[in-house]
Amino acid sequence: MAGRPMKIWFKRISALLCLSLVWAPSAAVTDPNDARVMVKLQQTWGSVLTTWTGNDPCGDKWVGTLCDANTNQVIYMTLINLGLEGEIPPEIGSLPALSNLDLSFNDKLKGSIPSELGNLQNLKLLSLQQCSLTGFIPASLGQLVNLTYLALNGNKLTGPIPSALGALSKLKWFDVAYNRLSGSLPVSSNNAAKLGLDTWPVIQHYHLNNNEFSGSIPPELGGATECLHLLLEYNQFTGTIPDTLGNMKSLQILSLHYNQLSGPIPQSLNKIVSNGTAYLGLHQMRVNNNMLTGVVPVLDALDSLEFVDFSNNTFDPQPFPSWLNASANTIQTILVEFSNLIGPLPSDILSYPSLQGLYAKNNQLNGTLNIPSTLGRRLRVVSLENNKLDQLTFATNANLPNISLNGNPTCSGTGLVTAGPLLCGTVVPPATLWNSPLVASSTCPVCDDPLLTSNPYTCRCSKPLIVSLEIRAFTAPTINDTDLWEKMRNQTYSSKNITTFFKIDQIWVRDASINNEKKVLVRIYFFPLIGETIDEVTETIIKVAFTQQLVSYTSPFKPEMVKSIINSGAISSHGSHGFPKAAIIGIAVGAGGLLVLIAFLVFVAVKLKRRAEEERKKNPFADWEKAQDGDAPKLKGARWFTFDDIKMMTNNFNEDNVLGEGGYGKVYKAIEAGTGATFAVKRAQEGSKQGALEFKNEIELLSRVHHNNLVGLVGFCYQKGEQMLVYEYMPNGTLTQNLRGKQ
Ligand SMILES: *[C@@H]1O[C@H](CO)[C@@H](O)[C@H](O)[C@H]1NC(C)=O
Ligand SMILES: *[C@@H]1O[C@H](CO)[C@@H](O)[C@H](O)[C@H]1NC(C)=O
Ligand SMILES: *[C@@H]1O[C@H](CO)[C@@H](O)[C@H](O)[C@H]1NC(C)=O
Ligand SMILES: *[C@@H]1O[C@H](CO)[C@@H](O)[C@H](O)[C@H]1NC(C)=O
Ligand SMILES: *[C@@H]1O[C@H](CO)[C@@H](O)[C@H](O)[C@H]1NC(C)=O
Ligand SMILES: *[C@@H]1O[C@H](CO)[C@@H](O)[C@H](O)[C@H]1NC(C)=O
Ligand SMILES: *[C@@H]1O[C@H](CO)[C@@H](O)[C@H](O)[C@H]1NC(C)=O
Ligand SMILES: *[C@@H]1O[C@H](CO)[C@@H](O)[C@H](O)[C@H]1NC(C)=O
Ligand SMILES: *[C@@H]1O[C@H](CO)[C@@H](O)[C@H](O)[C@H]1NC(C)=O
Repeated sequence: MAGRPMKIWFKRISALLCLSLVWAPSAAVTDPNDARVMVKLQQTWGSVLTTWTGNDPCGDKWVGTLCDANTNQVIYMTLINLGLEGEIPPEIGSLPALSNLDLSFNDKLKGSIPSELGNLQNLKLLSLQQCSLTGFIPASLGQLVNLTYLALNGNKLTGPIPSALGALSKLKWFDVAYNRLSGSLPVSSNNAAKLGLDTWPVIQHYHLNNNEFSGSIPPELGGATECLHLLLEYNQFTGTIPDTLGNMKSLQILSLHYNQLSGPIPQSLNKIVSNGTAYLGLHQMRVNNNMLTGVVPVLDALDSLEFVDFSNNTFDPQPFPSWLNASANTIQTILVEFSNLIGPLPSDILSYPSLQGLYAKNNQLNGTLNIPSTLGRRLRVVSLENNKLDQLTFATNANLPNISLNGNPTCSGTGLVTAGPLLCGTVVPPATLWNSPLVASSTCPVCDDPLLTSNPYTCRCSKPLIVSLEIRAFTAPTINDTDLWEKMRNQTYSSKNITTFFKIDQIWVRDASINNEKKVLVRIYFFPLIGETIDEVTETIIKVAFTQQLVSYTSPFKPEMVKSIINSGAISSHGSHGFPKAAIIGIAVGAGGLLVLIAFLVFVAVKLKRRAEEERKKNPFADWEKAQDGDAPKLKGARWFTFDDIKMMTNNFNEDNVLGEGGYGKVYKAIEAGTGATFAVKRAQEGSKQGALEFKNEIELLSRVHHNNLVGLVGFCYQKGEQMLVYEYMPNGTLTQNLRGKQ
C-alpha cells in the first residue's frame, strides 16, 4: 500500500502505452516456455533479483527483461552490475526470441559460458564483460548467425578462439581482450572448415589484446577493409607484420606492442591515409617493445597520425622520422626511445601545432639542437636524455618547454643547468594526476554530507553515478589539459542515448590519472537532473550506453574500457519518491524513436515495480497498521515523506520557516534539497492530532480533490507520532487561510 503512488504512476504509464502504442503490457502473460526458463533463472539469481517474484516475467515486469508485446517472449535481458552470483544456467539457451543478452559487470558470475547459448538463434548482442567466467569459448557461439556484437573481455577465459566463430557473418564487434586465451589465431586457411577471423566481412573491431596468443599475425586479417581497431598488444605473437595490413583502409588504431614481432615495419602501411576525410586514416601506430629490425620506412602519406611509438625495438641506425611532418597538424605524441636514431633532430618538429610530447631518449642524435622561436602551443615534454647533442641555440624570448638533456655533451658546460627550463639535472616526470578545474567551485556551496558531490556546473549537491574508464591507448604528457577533457565531456554527451536523456551540465569528467602500466584512468560523473540521486531508469541508460558501445569517443580516448559503474546514490539512498522526473523528460524527448520509447517505458515500469517493492518495506502507514486493521488508505498520487525528509526540508522546523500558525499547529515553508521545489507543510500539534482513521480519510480525500481554489496536496508524513500534510506552496497570503481546518 505504501507502493500505491508507484502503482498509480505505473497505471499512468500503462495508459500512455495503450493510447500511443495500442499495447497493454498488464495483460501480458509470458509464453509458457519462456516462463519456465525464466523461473529456472529465478532459482539461480532470485536472491539478488528480489523483484523477480511470481512466475510471469512479462506480466510481472521482472527487472531487466523486456518481452515482445505480441508473442510474450523474452527479447532483452539486461542485467548489468546487479551483483549476480553463481553460474549462467544452461537453460538460458532456451529463450528462442532473445536478441540482447547483457550480463556484464557481475564479478561474482563464475563458471563457463554455457554452450547452450549457441541455440539463441535470434541473438544480436552478447555481452558478458568483466565477470569472472572461466573455461573455453564454446564453438557453438558460431551458430549465432545474427550476432553483431560479441564482448567477452575482462574474464578468465582460456583456450583458443574456436574457428567456428568465423561463421558470424554479421559480426562487427569482437572483444576478447583481458583474458587468458592462447593458441594461434584461426583463419580460413588454417582449418578444415575454412572459417576464422578473416571470414567476418563487416568486422570493425578486433580486440584481442592482453591474452596469451601465439603464432604469427595472419596475413588474411588484411582483408578486413572495414576494420577500425586492430588490437593485438600484450600477447606472444611472433613473425613479421604482414604487408597486407596496409589493405585495411579503414584502420585507425594499430596496436602491436609488447609482442615478439620481428622483421621490418611494412611500407604498405603508407596506404592508410585520410585523404582529408575526417576520422579516416591511421591515427595510432604502436609497435614498441618488439624485435623489429631494419629502419622505420618513410610513411609520408600518413596525414592523420596522432600517436606513434616505435620504441624498444632493434632497428638499424636510422635518421629521425622527419616524415612525421605530414601529420604535423594532428600528431600529439612521438615515442622513439631506444630507436637507434642518428644525426640531427629536425628542429621544425618542435613547432608542430598539436605536438604535446616528444620522447627520444637513448639514441645518438647529434649536432646542434635548434629550438625554433615559434614552438608548438601544446608542447610540454621534450625528452632527449642520453643523446649526443653538443650545442644548443634558442631565441631568448622563446617560451621554452621543459627539455630534458641530461646525458648529452651540451650538459657538460656549466651555464645550461640554470638556463630556466632547460634541464640537465634530474628529469621532472610529467604530471600523473589531473583534476578538472571546478568551474564554479568558489561560488558553489560545500556539500556537508560526504556522500554528496557538488556539480560544478549547477552548484547542486547530489550523488552522481560514476563511470570509471581506462583509456587503452593513451599517453599523457599533457594529462593536465582542460581542453582535452572538455572534449571528452562533449563526446560523452553527444553519444547515442546519452544525448537524448541528459543535459551536458549533468556530466563532469574528472580525476584523470596515469597508472603503473602508463594507462590513463578517468572518471565520468553523471549528476541527476532533478533530485539527489540518479534514478534506476537513468542508471540503466548509462549502463547500456557504456557496455554496448553507444558511447563513441574519438582518439585519444578510444579504445576505452569501462572499469566500473557505480551509482553513489544507490549506496545510501534515502528514498526519492514518485516518478523519476528525468524519466518524464526522457519520454518527452525520446518520443521520436519508438523503439527507444518502448524499451524505455518497459525499463521504467520494471524499475518502478522494483522501487515500489522497496517502498513497501518502508511503509509510511506502518504506525497506522499497528493500531488499526482496516483497509489501507487509498491515495491518489500523494507522496509520503519520512520525518527526516521534512525535518531536512524545513531546516529542522526552523522558526524562520514558519508561514503561519493556528489552533491545529504550524505551517512551515519547506524546500526540497536538490530540486529546489517549495512546499507548505502543515504540522499538527499535540492535541489537534486526529485519530489515525481521520487522518487517513483526510489524506484520501485531499489526494483526490483537484480544484482551482484549493491548494493541492503533495503528500504526507505519518511517522514518529507526527501527522503532517505537505501542500503545494502558494506564495500569497491566502495560503494560511486555505490550510486552516478541513475544507
Ligand atoms: C536472422 O535475422 C533475420 C532478419 O532479422 C531473420 O529473418 C532470420 O530468421 C534470423 N536468423 C535466424 C537463424 O534466426
Ligand atoms: C586517396 O585519394 C587518391 C587520389 O584522389 C586516390 O587515388 C586514393 O585511392 C585515395 N585513397 C583512399 C584510401 O581513399
Ligand atoms: C623501453 O624499455 C625500457 C626498459 O625495458 C622501459 O623502461 C621503457 O618504458 C620502454 N619504453 C617504452 C616507450 O615502452
Ligand atoms: C616535410 O619535410 C620534408 C623534408 O624535411 C619536406 O620535403 C616536406 O615538404 C615536408 N612536408 C610537409 C607537409 O611539411
Ligand atoms: C652525427 O653523427 C653522424 C654519424 O653517426 C656523423 O656522420 C655526423 O658527422 C655527426 N654530426 C655531427 C654534427 O657531429
Ligand atoms: C617545467 O617543470 C617545472 C618543474 O620543474 C614545472 O613547474 C613547470 O610547470 C614545467 N613547465 C612546463 C611548460 O611544463
Ligand atoms: C596537474 O594537476 C594536478 C592536480 O590538479 C596538480 O597537482 C599538478 O601539480 C598538475 N601538474 C602540472 C605539471 O601542472
Ligand atoms: C564543447 O562543446 C561546447 C558546446 O558545444 C563548445 O562550445 C566547446 O568549444 C566544446 N569544447 C571542446 C573542448 O570541444
Ligand atoms: C539506446 O538507443 C538504441 C538505439 O539508438 C536503442 O535501440 C536502445 O533501446 C536505447 N536504449 C535505452 C535504454 O534507451
